[in-house]
Amino acid sequence: MKLNIAVLPGDGIGPEVTDQAIKVLNAIATEFNHEFIYNYASVGAIAIDEHGSPLPESTLNICKSSDAILFGAIGDPKYDNDPSAKVRPEQGLLKLRKELGLFANIRPVKAYESILNKSPLKKEIIKGTDISIYRELTGGIYFGGKQISDDGNTASDLCEYSRFEIERITHLAFKAAQSRKNKVTLVDKANVLESSRLWRRVVIELAVQYPDVTLDFLFVDNAAMQMILNPKQFDVILTENMFGDIISDEASVIGGSIGLLASASIGDTYAMFEPIHGSYPQAKGKDIANPIASILSATMMLEHFELFKEAQLIKDAVEKSLKLHITTPDLNTKYDNITTSKVGDFIEDVINNPNDSNLNFTNIHLGQSTII
Ligand code: IPM
Ligand code: MN
Repeated sequence: MKLNIAVLPGDGIGPEVTDQAIKVLNAIATEFNHEFIYNYASVGAIAIDEHGSPLPESTLNICKSSDAILFGAIGDPKYDNDPSAKVRPEQGLLKLRKELGLFANIRPVKAYESILNKSPLKKEIIKGTDISIYRELTGGIYFGGKQISDDGNTASDLCEYSRFEIERITHLAFKAAQSRKNKVTLVDKANVLESSRLWRRVVIELAVQYPDVTLDFLFVDNAAMQMILNPKQFDVILTENMFGDIISDEASVIGGSIGLLASASIGDTYAMFEPIHGSYPQAKGKDIANPIASILSATMMLEHFELFKEAQLIKDAVEKSLKLHITTPDLNTKYDNITTSKVGDFIEDVINNPNDSNLNFTNIHLGQSTII
């Protein structure tokens, strides 16, 4: 398959983790005879520095003319600490999602067997967790009208949803549940918010079209508690934009590191693949950030194009890396010399040698990546 991929590494650790995803994609291309063409473009704080805009027109055009987008990370402390900044890196990501109509953000959450002890939560609570969060991505409070009074002392953000916006992601969530454990949990705040009551009405209406799927409801405050009390109760979680943002960061604690969580942002025409983590500026350039979220985001991209064998090979290689402690410091306690690029090298090697069952991993620790 020939794919034109827009690559938007962005800020902070974005470029270094994205490099690893590209490394892995190239190994897949060689192994399976695909042609992946990368079109690099800038976004975020770096794009503000270079072009004066967090999403230059040229970047948007590259995205629109590609088959898929691989996104790194966005954000810079110089803007976080300046609430009066008019131009912010995050606007680049939000505009990209909106302009490309990426209304469904799918965030898989999994407790990997071999690293159950990396989570601060008890093993028996998280063991077997497998959740798919369907977060609405182009509506709600993120995109509603924003106001600040003239004296600067009163501000508001509007949370608005239309039936259509709820319907299209609800269908995706129910369809996903049908190929999983047939359960959808709608997370909302219907005891307080009118927009949440609309979500409930619409989702209940559509649920009759999926009689094999059980639908239940949780208020978001309770959902936040249930997520760490008993995460195994969840299959597909369906929720609006901001609730999804918050509970997915919370859910990352189950897996042991936010550096493991990938996502796919899907619309009717375009698709973008992005780790859920931010730009982690403290780690920038240090080669210590976990590249797995980016690698698994690229894997979701392959699944999007129905390259399932390829995707499975990467997922197996990732699991192998976790099992053998070939992981960055956020997860590792065993070795202290495993860098971002070594994790990428290792996964690349496993892909290049899929049938090699007798791997000698000491080389990795000696600073070489070749498996003999
Ligand atoms: C995410 C991020 C973004 C969001 C930020 C960077 C705008 O936190 O993808 O979860 O809030 O959606
Ligand atoms: Mn977030």
